[in-house]
Amino acid sequence: MRPPAIIDCDPGQDDVMAILLGGRLLDLRAITTVFGNVSLEQTTRNARQVVEFAELTGIPIAMGMAQPLVRDIQHASEIHGETGLDGPTLPPPSVPLVEEHATDVIIARTREIEGLALVPIGPLTNIATALHRDPSLAARVPQISLMGGSLTFGNTTPTAEFNIWCDPEAAHVVFTSGIPIKMIGLNVTRQVAATPERRAQIRSMGRRTSGIVADMLDFYSERVRALTGVPGGAMHDPLAVAALVDPDVLRFEPMHVAIELRGTHTYGMTVCDARHLHVTDLTPTRANGHRGAAPNAEVAVGANPDRFWEMFLDALASYP
Ligand code: RIB
Ligand code: CA
Repeated sequence: MRPPAIIDCDPGQDDVMAILLGGRLLDLRAITTVFGNVSLEQTTRNARQVVEFAELTGIPIAMGMAQPLVRDIQHASEIHGETGLDGPTLPPPSVPLVEEHATDVIIARTREIEGLALVPIGPLTNIATALHRDPSLAARVPQISLMGGSLTFGNTTPTAEFNIWCDPEAAHVVFTSGIPIKMIGLNVTRQVAATPERRAQIRSMGRRTSGIVADMLDFYSERVRALTGVPGGAMHDPLAVAALVDPDVLRFEPMHVAIELRGTHTYGMTVCDARHLHVTDLTPTRANGHRGAAPNAEVAVGANPDRFWEMFLDALASYP
Protein backbone atom coordinates (compact mmCIF):
# COMPACT_ATOMS: atom_id res chain seq x y z
CA MET A 1 0.00 0.00 0.00
CA ARG A 2 1.45 3.41 -0.98
CA PRO A 3 1.29 5.86 1.95
CA PRO A 4 -0.57 9.11 1.14
CA ALA A 5 1.81 12.07 1.28
CA ILE A 6 2.60 15.63 0.24
CA ILE A 7 6.16 16.42 -0.86
CA ASP A 8 7.18 19.98 0.09
CA CYS A 9 10.24 20.89 -1.94
CA ASP A 10 12.72 23.40 -3.38
CA PRO A 11 13.87 21.69 -6.64
CA GLY A 12 16.98 21.22 -6.74
CA GLN A 13 18.23 18.18 -8.61
CA ASP A 14 17.96 15.93 -5.55
CA ASP A 15 14.41 17.13 -4.92
CA VAL A 16 13.63 15.84 -8.43
CA MET A 17 14.89 12.40 -7.41
CA ALA A 18 12.51 12.52 -4.43
CA ILE A 19 9.56 13.47 -6.65
CA LEU A 20 10.35 10.64 -9.09
CA LEU A 21 10.63 8.11 -6.24
CA GLY A 22 7.52 9.50 -4.55
CA GLY A 23 5.61 9.40 -7.84
CA ARG A 24 5.91 5.63 -7.76
CA LEU A 25 6.16 4.62 -4.09
CA LEU A 26 3.85 7.18 -2.46
CA ASP A 27 0.21 8.05 -3.02
CA LEU A 28 1.46 11.54 -3.89
CA ARG A 29 -1.52 13.84 -3.28
CA ALA A 30 0.23 17.18 -3.86
CA ILE A 31 3.59 18.82 -4.41
CA THR A 32 4.10 22.12 -2.59
CA THR A 33 6.99 24.45 -3.31
CA VAL A 34 9.08 26.72 -1.11
CA PHE A 35 12.08 29.02 -1.62
CA GLY A 36 15.42 27.40 -0.94
CA ASN A 37 17.97 26.19 -3.46
CA VAL A 38 16.76 29.03 -5.67
CA SER A 39 13.86 31.52 -5.54
CA LEU A 40 10.27 30.39 -5.03
CA GLU A 41 9.42 31.42 -8.59
CA GLN A 42 12.21 29.17 -9.87
CA THR A 43 11.59 26.19 -7.55
CA THR A 44 7.93 26.30 -8.60
CA ARG A 45 8.84 26.44 -12.30
CA ASN A 46 11.21 23.51 -11.71
CA ALA A 47 8.52 21.44 -9.96
CA ARG A 48 6.18 22.02 -12.91
CA GLN A 49 8.91 20.91 -15.34
CA VAL A 50 9.52 17.68 -13.38
CA VAL A 51 5.84 16.77 -13.26
CA GLU A 52 5.72 17.30 -17.03
CA PHE A 53 8.79 15.38 -18.16
CA ALA A 54 7.94 12.51 -15.80
CA GLU A 55 4.30 12.53 -16.94
CA LEU A 56 3.05 12.96 -13.35
CA THR A 57 0.69 15.70 -14.50
CA GLY A 58 -2.24 14.54 -12.35
CA ILE A 59 -0.48 15.67 -9.16
CA PRO A 60 -1.50 19.18 -8.02
CA ILE A 61 1.32 21.70 -7.53
CA ALA A 62 0.86 24.63 -5.11
CA MET A 63 3.24 27.53 -4.54
CA GLY A 64 4.24 28.41 -0.97
CA MET A 65 6.41 30.76 1.02
CA ALA A 66 8.92 33.01 -0.71
CA GLN A 67 11.15 33.80 2.26
CA PRO A 68 12.10 32.67 5.78
CA LEU A 69 10.07 33.56 8.89
CA VAL A 70 12.75 35.79 10.42
CA ARG A 71 16.28 35.56 8.92
CA ASP A 72 17.53 36.89 5.57
CA ILE A 73 16.91 34.72 2.52
CA GLN A 74 19.71 32.47 1.22
CA HIS A 75 20.02 30.22 -1.86
CA ALA A 76 22.37 27.47 -3.08
CA SER A 77 22.81 28.14 -6.81
CA GLU A 78 26.51 27.39 -6.46
CA ILE A 79 25.48 23.74 -6.09
CA HIS A 80 22.33 23.52 -8.21
CA GLY A 81 23.03 26.15 -10.88
CA GLU A 82 21.23 29.41 -11.63
CA THR A 83 17.94 27.67 -12.52
CA GLY A 84 18.25 25.20 -9.63
CA LEU A 85 17.90 22.41 -12.20
CA ASP A 86 20.96 23.00 -14.37
CA GLY A 87 22.12 20.02 -16.43
CA PRO A 88 19.45 19.08 -19.00
CA THR A 89 17.70 21.52 -21.31
CA LEU A 90 13.97 21.32 -20.49
CA PRO A 91 11.09 23.06 -22.27
CA PRO A 92 9.23 25.81 -20.38
CA PRO A 93 6.50 24.25 -18.21
CA SER A 94 2.85 24.38 -19.26
CA VAL A 95 1.19 22.38 -16.47
CA PRO A 96 -0.84 24.86 -14.36
CA LEU A 97 -0.52 25.53 -10.64
CA VAL A 98 -3.51 25.10 -8.35
CA GLU A 99 -4.99 28.41 -7.18
CA GLU A 100 -4.57 27.61 -3.48
CA HIS A 101 -1.48 28.64 -1.49
CA ALA A 102 0.70 25.71 -0.44
CA THR A 103 -0.15 26.23 3.25
CA ASP A 104 -3.88 26.10 2.41
CA VAL A 105 -3.28 22.84 0.52
CA ILE A 106 -1.38 21.35 3.49
CA ILE A 107 -4.15 22.41 5.92
CA ALA A 108 -7.02 21.27 3.68
CA ARG A 109 -5.62 17.96 2.43
CA THR A 110 -4.65 16.84 5.95
CA ARG A 111 -8.27 17.43 6.93
CA GLU A 112 -9.59 15.47 3.93
CA ILE A 113 -7.13 12.57 3.69
CA GLU A 114 -6.73 10.17 6.62
CA GLY A 115 -3.09 9.45 7.48
CA LEU A 116 -1.58 11.98 5.09
CA ALA A 117 2.17 12.28 5.78
CA LEU A 118 4.33 15.32 5.03
CA VAL A 119 7.71 14.98 3.31
CA PRO A 120 9.51 18.34 3.57
CA ILE A 121 12.80 18.34 1.64
CA GLY A 122 13.58 22.07 1.64
CA PRO A 123 13.36 24.83 4.26
CA LEU A 124 10.49 24.18 6.71
CA THR A 125 8.80 27.54 6.17
CA ASN A 126 5.62 26.15 4.57
CA ILE A 127 5.14 23.57 7.32
CA ALA A 128 5.74 26.09 10.11
CA THR A 129 3.40 28.65 8.52
CA ALA A 130 0.67 26.02 8.11
CA LEU A 131 1.08 25.15 11.82
CA HIS A 132 0.82 28.83 12.77
CA ARG A 133 -2.29 29.26 10.63
CA ASP A 134 -3.96 26.07 11.88
CA PRO A 135 -2.52 24.77 15.19
CA SER A 136 -4.85 21.75 14.99
CA LEU A 137 -2.68 20.52 12.09
CA ALA A 138 -0.19 19.06 14.61
CA ALA A 139 -2.77 16.61 15.90
CA ARG A 140 -3.71 15.17 12.50
CA VAL A 141 -0.33 14.69 10.80
CA PRO A 142 0.76 11.12 11.60
CA GLN A 143 4.34 11.49 10.33
CA ILE A 144 6.81 14.01 8.98
CA SER A 145 9.74 12.50 7.10
CA LEU A 146 12.13 15.38 6.48
CA MET A 147 15.50 15.78 4.87
CA GLY A 148 17.34 18.22 7.08
CA GLY A 149 19.88 18.71 9.83
CA SER A 150 22.69 16.42 10.80
CA LEU A 151 23.72 14.22 13.74
CA THR A 152 27.29 15.30 13.08
CA PHE A 153 28.51 18.25 11.04
CA GLY A 154 26.86 20.56 8.55
CA ASN A 155 27.30 21.53 4.91
CA THR A 156 26.38 25.20 4.60
CA THR A 157 28.30 25.95 7.80
CA PRO A 158 30.50 23.64 9.89
CA THR A 159 27.49 22.97 12.12
CA ALA A 160 24.32 23.63 10.07
CA GLU A 161 22.66 21.82 7.15
CA PHE A 162 21.18 23.98 4.37
CA ASN A 163 17.42 23.27 4.79
CA ILE A 164 17.48 24.02 8.51
CA TRP A 165 19.95 26.91 8.14
CA CYS A 166 17.68 28.58 5.56
CA ASP A 167 14.95 28.99 8.20
CA PRO A 168 15.97 27.86 11.71
CA GLU A 169 12.93 29.50 13.32
CA ALA A 170 10.62 27.47 11.06
CA ALA A 171 12.52 24.31 11.97
CA HIS A 172 12.08 25.16 15.67
CA VAL A 173 8.31 25.42 15.15
CA VAL A 174 8.22 22.00 13.46
CA PHE A 175 10.50 20.21 15.96
CA THR A 176 8.44 21.56 18.90
CA SER A 177 5.06 20.79 17.28
CA GLY A 178 4.74 17.28 18.72
CA ILE A 179 4.28 15.74 15.25
CA PRO A 180 6.21 12.43 14.92
CA ILE A 181 9.35 13.30 12.94
CA LYS A 182 11.83 11.17 11.05
CA MET A 183 14.91 13.35 10.58
CA ILE A 184 17.10 12.25 7.69
CA GLY A 185 20.29 14.27 8.06
CA LEU A 186 23.61 14.69 6.31
CA ASN A 187 25.25 12.05 8.51
CA VAL A 188 23.32 9.39 6.52
CA THR A 189 22.56 11.12 3.21
CA ARG A 190 26.27 11.56 2.55
CA GLN A 191 26.53 7.74 2.53
CA VAL A 192 24.29 7.61 -0.58
CA ALA A 193 26.16 9.45 -3.36
CA ALA A 194 25.50 9.55 -7.10
CA THR A 195 28.96 8.20 -7.90
CA PRO A 196 30.23 8.11 -11.51
CA GLU A 197 29.39 4.38 -11.55
CA ARG A 198 25.80 4.96 -10.41
CA ARG A 199 25.36 7.78 -12.96
CA ALA A 200 26.70 5.55 -15.76
CA GLN A 201 24.21 2.88 -14.66
CA ILE A 202 21.39 5.43 -14.92
CA ARG A 203 22.51 6.73 -18.32
CA SER A 204 22.75 3.17 -19.65
CA MET A 205 18.99 2.74 -19.08
CA GLY A 206 18.60 4.69 -22.33
CA ARG A 207 15.18 6.16 -21.57
CA ARG A 208 14.08 9.79 -21.86
CA THR A 209 13.61 10.28 -18.10
CA SER A 210 16.78 8.39 -17.15
CA GLY A 211 18.72 10.56 -19.61
CA ILE A 212 17.35 13.74 -17.99
CA VAL A 213 18.17 12.35 -14.54
CA ALA A 214 21.72 11.47 -15.63
CA ASP A 215 22.21 15.02 -16.97
CA MET A 216 20.92 16.50 -13.68
CA LEU A 217 23.08 14.26 -11.50
CA ASP A 218 26.16 14.86 -13.68
CA PHE A 219 25.80 18.65 -13.26
CA TYR A 220 25.01 18.43 -9.53
CA SER A 221 27.86 15.97 -8.89
CA GLU A 222 30.39 18.08 -10.79
CA ARG A 223 29.46 21.13 -8.68
CA VAL A 224 29.76 19.04 -5.48
CA ARG A 225 33.12 17.64 -6.62
CA ALA A 226 34.46 21.09 -7.50
CA LEU A 227 33.39 22.49 -4.11
CA THR A 228 34.14 19.55 -1.80
CA GLY A 229 36.24 17.00 -3.71
CA VAL A 230 33.53 14.36 -3.16
CA PRO A 231 32.95 12.52 -6.50
CA GLY A 232 29.15 12.25 -6.32
CA GLY A 233 26.30 14.47 -5.24
CA ALA A 234 24.43 13.02 -2.25
CA MET A 235 20.92 11.68 -2.80
CA HIS A 236 19.70 13.75 0.15
CA ASP A 237 16.02 14.24 -0.61
CA PRO A 238 14.85 10.87 -2.02
CA LEU A 239 15.98 9.26 1.26
CA ALA A 240 13.16 11.12 3.03
CA VAL A 241 10.74 9.35 0.67
CA ALA A 242 12.48 5.98 1.07
CA ALA A 243 12.22 6.30 4.87
CA LEU A 244 8.42 6.33 4.59
CA VAL A 245 8.15 3.19 2.46
CA ASP A 246 11.01 0.85 3.49
CA PRO A 247 12.05 0.55 7.16
CA ASP A 248 15.29 -1.17 6.13
CA VAL A 249 16.83 1.67 4.07
CA LEU A 250 17.70 3.71 7.16
CA ARG A 251 18.19 2.99 10.87
CA PHE A 252 16.70 5.46 13.32
CA GLU A 253 17.22 6.18 17.03
CA PRO A 254 14.88 8.34 19.11
CA MET A 255 16.49 11.44 20.59
CA HIS A 256 15.81 15.05 21.47
CA VAL A 257 16.64 17.54 18.71
CA ALA A 258 16.86 21.26 19.45
CA ILE A 259 17.37 23.92 16.80
CA GLU A 260 20.04 26.48 17.66
CA LEU A 261 18.58 29.97 17.15
CA ARG A 262 21.23 32.15 18.79
CA GLY A 263 24.71 30.70 18.21
CA THR A 264 27.28 32.80 16.41
CA HIS A 265 28.90 29.67 15.00
CA THR A 266 25.96 27.29 15.40
CA TYR A 267 22.88 29.15 14.12
CA GLY A 268 20.66 26.55 12.40
CA MET A 269 22.40 23.54 13.96
CA THR A 270 20.27 20.50 14.85
CA VAL A 271 21.52 19.82 18.38
CA CYS A 272 20.88 16.07 18.70
CA ASP A 273 21.08 14.52 22.19
CA ALA A 274 22.80 11.23 21.33
CA ARG A 275 24.39 10.72 24.77
CA HIS A 276 22.50 7.43 25.21
CA LEU A 277 24.09 5.90 22.09
CA HIS A 278 27.29 3.90 21.88
CA VAL A 279 29.96 6.10 20.35
CA THR A 280 30.95 3.37 17.87
CA ASP A 281 27.81 1.84 16.36
CA LEU A 282 25.27 4.39 17.66
CA THR A 283 23.15 1.66 19.25
CA PRO A 284 21.40 2.51 22.51
CA THR A 285 23.39 1.78 25.67
CA ARG A 286 21.65 -0.13 28.46
CA ALA A 287 22.57 2.67 30.82
CA ASN A 288 20.40 5.68 30.31
CA GLY A 289 22.03 7.79 32.96
CA HIS A 290 21.72 11.24 31.50
CA ARG A 291 18.61 13.22 32.16
CA GLY A 292 18.17 14.81 28.75
CA ALA A 293 14.91 16.15 27.37
CA ALA A 294 12.44 13.55 26.10
CA PRO A 295 12.97 12.50 22.46
CA ASN A 296 11.02 14.57 19.90
CA ALA A 297 12.34 12.87 16.77
CA GLU A 298 13.67 9.66 15.29
CA VAL A 299 17.07 10.57 13.91
CA ALA A 300 18.59 8.48 11.10
CA VAL A 301 21.91 7.02 12.32
CA GLY A 302 22.61 4.41 9.63
CA ALA A 303 21.92 3.83 5.92
CA ASN A 304 21.77 0.89 3.51
CA PRO A 305 22.88 2.51 0.22
CA ASP A 306 22.48 -0.63 -1.91
CA ARG A 307 18.89 -1.07 -0.75
CA PHE A 308 18.16 2.57 -1.59
CA TRP A 309 19.70 2.33 -5.09
CA GLU A 310 17.76 -0.88 -5.83
CA MET A 311 14.53 0.95 -4.91
CA PHE A 312 15.43 4.13 -6.81
CA LEU A 313 16.61 2.42 -10.01
CA ASP A 314 13.48 0.23 -10.06
CA ALA A 315 11.30 3.33 -9.81
CA LEU A 316 13.33 5.22 -12.43
CA ALA A 317 13.08 2.34 -14.90
CA SER A 318 9.27 2.65 -14.81
CA TYR A 319 9.34 6.19 -16.24
CA PRO A 320 9.12 6.84 -20.00
O1 RIB B 1 21.46 20.06 2.54
C1 RIB B 1 20.81 19.34 1.52
C2 RIB B 1 19.47 19.93 1.22
O2 RIB B 1 19.63 21.26 0.76
C3 RIB B 1 18.72 19.19 0.10
O3 RIB B 1 17.34 19.26 0.34
C4 RIB B 1 19.06 20.00 -1.13
O4 RIB B 1 18.01 19.95 -2.12
C5 RIB B 1 19.14 21.38 -0.57
O5 RIB B 1 17.83 21.91 -0.53
CA1 CA C 1 15.78 20.14 -1.32
